[in-house]
Amino acid sequence: MDYKQALNHPIFKTISQSAESLDVDAYVIGGFVRDFILNRNNSKDVDIVAVGDGIQLAKQVAVNLPNKPKVQIFKTYGTAMIRHHDLEIEFVGARKESYTKESRNPAVENGTLEDDQNRRDFTINAMALSLNPSNYGELVDPFNGLGDLELKTIRTPLNPNTTYSDDPLRMLRAIRFATQLHFKIEAQSLHAITKNNHRINIISKERIVSELHKILECDKPSKGFLLLEQTGLLDIILPELTALKGIDEIEGQRHKDNFYHTLEVVDNISNQTNNLWLRWAALLHDIGKAPTKKFNKKAGWTFHGHEFEGSKMVYRLFKRLKMPLNDKMKFVQKMVLMSSRPIILAEDRVTDSAVRRLVFDAGDHVDDLMTLCEADITTKNPKKFKKYHNNFKIVREKIIEVEERDHIRNFQPPISGEDIMKTFGLKPSREIGIIKETIKEAILEGDIPNQYDAAFQLMLKTGKRLGLKVVD
Ligand code: CTP
Repeated sequence: MDYKQALNHPIFKTISQSAESLDVDAYVIGGFVRDFILNRNNSKDVDIVAVGDGIQLAKQVAVNLPNKPKVQIFKTYGTAMIRHHDLEIEFVGARKESYTKESRNPAVENGTLEDDQNRRDFTINAMALSLNPSNYGELVDPFNGLGDLELKTIRTPLNPNTTYSDDPLRMLRAIRFATQLHFKIEAQSLHAITKNNHRINIISKERIVSELHKILECDKPSKGFLLLEQTGLLDIILPELTALKGIDEIEGQRHKDNFYHTLEVVDNISNQTNNLWLRWAALLHDIGKAPTKKFNKKAGWTFHGHEFEGSKMVYRLFKRLKMPLNDKMKFVQKMVLMSSRPIILAEDRVTDSAVRRLVFDAGDHVDDLMTLCEADITTKNPKKFKKYHNNFKIVREKIIEVEERDHIRNFQPPISGEDIMKTFGLKPSREIGIIKETIKEAILEGDIPNQYDAAFQLMLKTGKRLGLKVVD
C-alpha cells in the first residue's frame, strides 16, 4: 500500500515543513491512518503528534497557512486545534502518561513517539505515518496494527488491564469499534473489560452516552449491546435493559425473553431508519415490562400498563445519564407510550375511527410509530409474520386515506371555545369543555366530518341538551 496517498492533501506538506523548521518530528496518528487503510470514507479529523511541543507546532502551521487560521489551545490537555477547510487538525506533543485510579485525567510527561503509541487505546489506533523528510509517508506500526486490521481484531498495545484501567472509556470504545467495524475483541481484552467493568463509573455520563449513540448508529447495534451485556457493562449503564433478560415459566406458560427481543427490534429498525432517537425508542420500548410483569392462571403472563411505566422510566433514565430532557426525550417517551397502539389495531379489523384516533394521538410522529411497530414484529411464525405486516400495510394505507379526508394530524377543532362562548353568551365554563370534547369525539368516531358547518350543528344540538340558549 502506498501510504503517501493518505497524505495527498497539501496540509500535510505544510505540517511537515513547519515541523522541520522547528526541528521536531511529526506524525499523523490514530483514526485517520486506520480509516485510510480500511478505505473508510475519508476521515475529516486528523491527529498530529509532535515529538516536542504540539502547541508550538500548531502555531507554526497556522502562520504558514495562507489564511492564517485561529489556533484553539486546550491548556489542560496540552493540545491545540486548527480548522482548515473541512479538516479539524488536532496537535499534541508525544507523551508518556501515568493515570491515577480516581480519574481519567492523566499526569503528563514528554515522551518519544513510541511512548505515545504505547499509551494509545488499540493497536489499530496506534499506527503513525511519518511527516519527516527522511521517511515521509512511512508507516510506523510497532504493535502490528496492520495485522489486526486484517484479522479484524481489537487489541490493546499494552497489557489490556493497564490500557483499560488507565482510561475505562476505552472499554466502551472497544465495543463501539467492534460494532462499527464488524471486528472481534481479542479474548484477553474481553476478559480485562469484564474484570474492570466497574471502573466505568469514573467516566462522565456524557462520554458514556456519546459511545452509546455511536453503537446505536451502527448497522447492527445488537452486536454492541450483546458485548455490553456479556462484559457486565450494560448492567451498570442500562440496568433497565438487563432486567428484561430471562424467560420465566409457571405451570407450563412462558413469556419471550424481552432482552433478546429488544435487540432484534433495534436491528430491525436500524434497517429502516437512521433516526437516532427512533433507535433509542426501539431500545427502550419494552423497559416497562420488567416492573409490570405478573402471572395469573387465567391470563398467563401479563405486562399491563408497561407502556405507561416505560415512558416514565425513559425520563428517569435520560435524567440519570444526563441526556437532554427536551423534545427528543419527549419523542422517545411518546413512542414508548404508544408502542402497542398500532399492534392492537392490526390484530383486529382495522376501522377508520381507530386509525383516526391513532393519527390524532401520534400527530406528526405517526409514521415513526408505524416504523417502530413494524420493527417490533419478531415472531418466528411465518404465517403470523405475514399477517401482521399485511395488517400494518393496511393501517398505513388507511392513515393516508383518513388523513386526506379528515386532516386529523395536528388536529385543530373546527369550532373554537370562542365560537361556543359567543353563540351561547357564556363565560369560561365547564359546558365549553363538554361541547368541544363532544365535537372532537364525533369527528374521531366519524359521526361528523372535520368541517365547520357539521361541527356548528353539533354544537347547537349539544348546547340544547345542556340547556343552553343561543343568543342573538
Ligand atoms: N485515543 C486513545 N484513548 C481514548 C481516546 C482516543 O488512545 N480514550 C487515541 C487513539 O489513538 C485514537 C486517537 O486518540 O485513534 C483519536 O481519538 P478519537 O478522535 O476519539 O477517535 P478516532 O480513533 O479518531 O475514531 P472516531 O473518530 O471514530 O472516534
